[in-house]
Amino acid sequence: MKFIILGVIEIKFEVTLEKMAEEALENVEENITIGLGSGSTIARFVDALGKYLTRINFKVPVIPSSLQIQTLAERAGLDIVQPRLTSSIDLVVDGVDQMDKNFNMIKGGGGALLREKVLMKAAKKVVILADEEKFVEVLSRKVPIEVVPFARVFVQKELEKIGGKPELRTFKKGYPFFTDNGNVILDVDFGHIDEPPMLLSEIKNIPGVVEAGIFIERLHIIYKACKDGSVKKITPEVEIR
Ligand code: A5P
Repeated sequence: MKFIILGVIEIKFEVTLEKMAEEALENVEENITIGLGSGSTIARFVDALGKYLTRINFKVPVIPSSLQIQTLAERAGLDIVQPRLTSSIDLVVDGVDQMDKNFNMIKGGGGALLREKVLMKAAKKVVILADEEKFVEVLSRKVPIEVVPFARVFVQKELEKIGGKPELRTFKKGYPFFTDNGNVILDVDFGHIDEPPMLLSEIKNIPGVVEAGIFIERLHIIYKACKDGSVKKITPEVEIR
């Protein structure tokens, strides 16, 4: 009985996540270029976007942040364009692993943090989709850090000096995980992160670090999928950070 109830709750939440993806389509306009983040939440958005564009019969160029999302975009029939167009991205739609009360984020659970950050910095409008479990007061998840393989051991030691406990990301059988850029990921436990911008700059000062999964960029709209079935729209620009 317990499992049936849990199953029903999960199915209901799936519907809420789909509703969130569909609501985010209101940001899609003709003649814009869209950057796509990675992960399961954005997979839902890609699916909704594909169906929407087919229905209204127009094409919108997209730039995927990873091979994961690119394959899904291909399947959804989206018009994929080359990353050289990153200078003219109008909108980026992305997911998040954790977001604090000041809208700082930890991202990179899927390893796509570098390209996601490039797209986010380049975009005129940033839209984030997240279920309510991602929201916390203070960031505390392990921070994914993309590192050049040559510098792995050095970077690990440097991260320990600033209070981190790094762990090389591997697959279940122990093989190292490589990003779409050919680098490795260190997942680093820093405990509670009270000053995300300060920690980010300390990490980025270490030679060999390519990018860190702490995101402090300006966000325009956050769609929050809630367990009660509602989708809340948050506009951080008008709230006090
Ligand atoms: C990808 O590397 C990440 O930054 C994703 O945005 C993040 O992990 C969220 O993924 P889910 O939507 O699967 O939770």
